[in-house]
Amino acid sequence: MSVRHFLSLLDFSSDELRSLIARASELKQLHYRRETPQRFSGYVLGMIFEKSSTRTRVSFEAGMQQLGGHAMFLSPQDTQLGRGEPLEDSARVISSMVDIIMIRTFGHDILERFASYSRVPVINALSDSFHPCQLLADMQTFSEHRGSISGHSVAWIGDGNNMCQSYINAARQFDFELRIACPTGFEPDPDLVAANRDRVAVMQDPAEAARDCSLVVTDVYASMGQEREQEQRLQLFAGYQVNAELMSRARGDALYMHCLPAHRGEEISSELMDNPDTVIWEEAENRLHAQKALLEFLLQRQA
Ligand code: CP
Ligand code: NVA
Repeated sequence: MSVRHFLSLLDFSSDELRSLIARASELKQLHYRRETPQRFSGYVLGMIFEKSSTRTRVSFEAGMQQLGGHAMFLSPQDTQLGRGEPLEDSARVISSMVDIIMIRTFGHDILERFASYSRVPVINALSDSFHPCQLLADMQTFSEHRGSISGHSVAWIGDGNNMCQSYINAARQFDFELRIACPTGFEPDPDLVAANRDRVAVMQDPAEAARDCSLVVTDVYASMGQEREQEQRLQLFAGYQVNAELMSRARGDALYMHCLPAHRGEEISSELMDNPDTVIWEEAENRLHAQKALLEFLLQRQA
């Protein structure tokens, strides 16, 4: 059987993604009842982090443990990866010793190269281009609160970054309309937009993007690796804040999401972050459940 990887949402079919989200909600209930099946005793997840993380590390490590397995944190500082051992050699060696690997890195090509030399599944835990694990949690959260997202309109406000590009893939896979509002020069990859032009529109005006939509999503102005642009981006992104005024353009029951970490008062208002009704904390928690469903899906094919 060929090895399946999860480098973007396009690696799975729409049906597979929908069943995975349904399984994530089941695993959530099983976890609350302390009944998670420990089917993967003796299995090891290798976790390679070339960028910082709170949610991704904690959710993968806790999730693997809850499934009965073990997770191993590997940072470039402490491995030969950081001393220039070729990626291809590292992929061959690491994948001969563990059962599944997740990688958080910079260029998406790094993931693709690693995956092509890995004999076990490789999961994208964030690259400069995509963050598909976050989308699993976001889609789970929407579905738990509002049912199927199919046919709804979603607004992306801010940078055309890895999260925005993952929403473009999600629009295709989960069948929704996506309106992206970003400042000129910060649009997502034009080829990706062109390939999805039947359901994705790019504009400058956040109010136009948010109009009558069911979900409003944002993310930081400067992603990891862009820290030096933070001050300049603060000015260029003025007006691209998700706040009560913007939410008043959306449907009355619209949800808003943020993958976190958030900068209160920049891309999202403190008022929305601290609103007791926000689903943002559940969105973060759902990383645990959605990724357990993902690990289960990929590991059972290896079993
Ligand atoms: N949303 C997310 O991936 O968070 P971390 O960077 O903390 O993992
Ligand atoms: N776009 C952000 C997401 C962090 C989870 C980044 O890449 O830093």
